[in-house]
Amino acid sequence: MAVRIDGKKISQQIKDELKEKVSALRQEGKEGTLAVIQVGADPASSVYVRNKKNACAYIGIGSLSYELKEDTSEEELLRLVEELNGKEEVKGILVQLPLPSHICEANVIHAISPEKDVDGFHPQSVGKLAIGEPGFAPCTPAGIIQLLKRSGIEIAGKHCVVIGRSNIVGKPMALLTLKENATVTVTHSKTKNLPEICRQADILIVAMGKPRFIGAEYVKEGAVVIDVGIHRDAGNKLCGDVKFEEVEPIASAITPVPGGVGPMTIAMLMDNCVRGIEKGPNTMLQG
Ligand code: GUN
Repeated sequence: MAVRIDGKKISQQIKDELKEKVSALRQEGKEGTLAVIQVGADPASSVYVRNKKNACAYIGIGSLSYELKEDTSEEELLRLVEELNGKEEVKGILVQLPLPSHICEANVIHAISPEKDVDGFHPQSVGKLAIGEPGFAPCTPAGIIQLLKRSGIEIAGKHCVVIGRSNIVGKPMALLTLKENATVTVTHSKTKNLPEICRQADILIVAMGKPRFIGAEYVKEGAVVIDVGIHRDAGNKLCGDVKFEEVEPIASAITPVPGGVGPMTIAMLMDNCVRGIEKGPNTMLQG
């Protein structure tokens, strides 16, 4: 039976470490604020944004919140990003995604100063990650590396299979596990023989966005299974991309949903913000 990896506990540990660091930085006169922009009132986004602001308050950094109307133009949004780029006290800028369809997400991401790109989505951050230079790493995959490390799971030399190739999770996940010396396979919706490939994984990272899709036939005995999915099932209960009850008896360690990967994203966002306050993006791997 698998060990359950407790993302809530590990994220709390990280936030407590950051709280101490923030207090030490304040003694040195270093402070800063995270600016969070939300366009429209998507309920899921509103929950994420509120959690981000609460996390800032917890670790002791400032947060500025911009709740813009759904019909805000791309120009107006770009103007706000520019204004925040120029504000000395703002050390991190986060534009909550998805944006309304009349706004081009790429244009907005490109407009954020790479020095304040705490999401790690700017092409400069992505490029630095790809070539192993210090920069901001995207929060969810960086959080997964922390979950593995802080659970005592060796990554080097392991076969890591990533399901999903999004810019936010799959691709940076592949780069980060590669940096940790894993042998990495990236799979996606067009991959043939997916169960067979997944059964070769020592560490299976599932970010496919399909509720309860991955069952026992995808998992090798003793594998570590990380579930990035978050959905509501027919009974309105939260579930992941993995059939938890079916996979738990086979795996050696598994993340639950909720309480696995989810809380780590915000913890690593806070880590990136603290790095922004410290001296700008200085390392690819958070700890
Ligand atoms: N929407 C869902 N996840 C994220 C994230 O990590 N950052 C931003 N900016 N928007 C998101």
